[in-house]
Amino acid sequence: MSHAHAIRLKNMVIIALVVLATINLQATEACLTHDYNVVINNGLPPDSPDPLKLHCRSKNDDLGYHELQVNQNFTWSFCESLLYNTLFTCDVSWGRAYQGFQAFNSKNQGMCDGGLCLWQPRSDGIYFKGLEYPYFLKKFDWLFGRP
Ligand SMILES: *[C@@H]1O[C@H](CO)[C@@H](O)[C@H](O)[C@H]1NC(C)=O
Repeated sequence: MSHAHAIRLKNMVIIALVVLATINLQATEACLTHDYNVVINNGLPPDSPDPLKLHCRSKNDDLGYHELQVNQNFTWSFCESLLYNTLFTCDVSWGRAYQGFQAFNSKNQGMCDGGLCLWQPRSDGIYFKGLEYPYFLKKFDWLFGRP
């Protein structure tokens, strides 16, 4: 191998290492895709006898079972998957009332306002505030009658 050849090879190796290090840095410290915050806010009446119970999960992450006080938030953040197929579903219940919904779906990502997807269960259903409307809109009624 000629001297010039060896130098060029060495430069290419260095460039490759820098590129790999940069990609790795982005993967750990920032999003290559988009990052989102999903907030579930307990909008139930202050005198509610029952807490709001919730359980949210995706294919890869189970966020666990939680109970929220009135006006308390349950918040999580994530980096959308490289394949743009992130899906978080939540089951919420309030006394005998329950509902399940998609809290985030890559297919509807445009619905979140500036990366914030804000859900609010109220006494008459599950509300959402996003890009579509600048105020809360009811998306789901409560279901009843589960054994
Ligand atoms: C809940 O989250 C929303 C959206 O980020 C925020 O506006 C609100 O102040 C939060 N409420 C509490 C009690 O932290």
